[in-house]
Amino acid sequence: MARLVVVSNRVAVPNRNASESAGGLAVVVRPTLKRHSGVWFGWSGRVVAKSQPAVRTIERGHQSYILTDLTNEDYDEFYNGFANRVLWPIFHYRLDIAEFSRRDLRGYMRVNEHFATELHKILLPDDVIWVHDYHLIPLAGILRDLGRQNKIGFFHHVPFPPPEIVAAIPNHEHLIPAMCHYDLIGFQTDCDATNFARYLKDECGLLNRDPSSFRAGDRTVQIGVFAVGVETSELNRLARRAVHSSFVRGVVESLAGRDMIIGVDRLDYSKGIALRMDAFDRFLSIHPVWRGKVTYLQITPKSRSEIREYADMERQIDETAGRVNGMYGEASWTPIRYVNRTHSRTALAGLYRSARAALVTPLRDGMNIVAKEYVACQDSENPGVLILSRFAGAAAECTAALIVNPYDADSVAAAIERALSMPLDERRSRNNALFATLVAHDVKNWGDRFLDALTRPQKLPNWLSWMRAKNSRTPALRRNAEKQWAAD
Ligand code: F6P
Repeated sequence: MARLVVVSNRVAVPNRNASESAGGLAVVVRPTLKRHSGVWFGWSGRVVAKSQPAVRTIERGHQSYILTDLTNEDYDEFYNGFANRVLWPIFHYRLDIAEFSRRDLRGYMRVNEHFATELHKILLPDDVIWVHDYHLIPLAGILRDLGRQNKIGFFHHVPFPPPEIVAAIPNHEHLIPAMCHYDLIGFQTDCDATNFARYLKDECGLLNRDPSSFRAGDRTVQIGVFAVGVETSELNRLARRAVHSSFVRGVVESLAGRDMIIGVDRLDYSKGIALRMDAFDRFLSIHPVWRGKVTYLQITPKSRSEIREYADMERQIDETAGRVNGMYGEASWTPIRYVNRTHSRTALAGLYRSARAALVTPLRDGMNIVAKEYVACQDSENPGVLILSRFAGAAAECTAALIVNPYDADSVAAAIERALSMPLDERRSRNNALFATLVAHDVKNWGDRFLDALTRPQKLPNWLSWMRAKNSRTPALRRNAEKQWAAD
């Protein structure tokens, strides 16, 4: 393949601990880029005065990292503003907390233009460009205006809600149709892709020959479903070693023989952390026999703290953890250990393997790779149990998890009890099924399938007919759909 140019807001430059601050996107993009020579372009993570923004290149092996600073104004209007006060809440179905200002929209467009201008300077005619995430929706349109004919793909990491909700994005009638300047748009789930296709039909009146291909003016845009995976086998090997580290052994010893339940989430309202703590409270109140026998460790690095909703939520979670600990805690037992520190990938892998259950209960999530990482890290002889929200994209594949409604504290409390009491045989068979799925659909498979579809579009599967067949009541149709998916 020609040179791969990845573009995203966050960039994870090796040796800078970037994976710890760059979030899930970096974790999935890095293994793909490692296998191609190319460029990763994005924000340096630095915010500078208006007169000082710089672009610099860092070379690492056969990769170049081209990083641009943002000005204070850009950071406020683009990142904290339109991206995280409008697009993030609306894509997560939270119309109630979206806050729009024209100034922020102008800042969002300005930073997209800046990215496009800098990219235009370094692009070669046959570069394959892969753009990620809601920060950069208009990028392809601006590159096309600059005359770029390259193959450009876009991956939408977060949910794509129904058009009735998307229509609440101010300026959506310009922003969303501009996505048709991409050659291929990838979504995490069938549901997201269906919603986007409905938007193109209902809001833009676009015609399609099949559900994965729309005509927009003189262009054709392809739509596909590419569920993000993790480095399943590598994580399993890492976790096997990590449980022997002094850090993980220290945590396990401090539990004094109690079971551990783990939750790991960036501090975000979409993760449902306070409701999850309420459900743990419900569990302890309904099942007093478990008091003093299980510890729930919630690891939650802070993020986007300048945005009011995030600061409010931080207080709410602090209060909830304090209330539950005050109500049930003893001098020798703290029911919830709530930690805001960032942990290394190795430390998390060891903790995942040491936890009897994971609580992954977002209220809405594009995929949620913590769910997949937890499964990848388990010991197949004595695995833990994944408790997973039906509203996480991962629920579509991880059907052998205990699937819960995160709004229903009783159902989550019942799942916690079931996970802790689950016989070894059932834990093993659920883990085997989950692990096999995650090996077949790992992060390599994700990157290869997307780039293959972008560079050879005729190979794109018809996801809508596949989805219908997969959900069909006829077993033969379902089996065929599984075969077809595996082959695609
Ligand atoms: O896809 C969602 C995402 O953009 C991921 O990159 C990452 O998990 C998270 O959000 C990072 O958020 P931020 O860049 O605002 O810290």
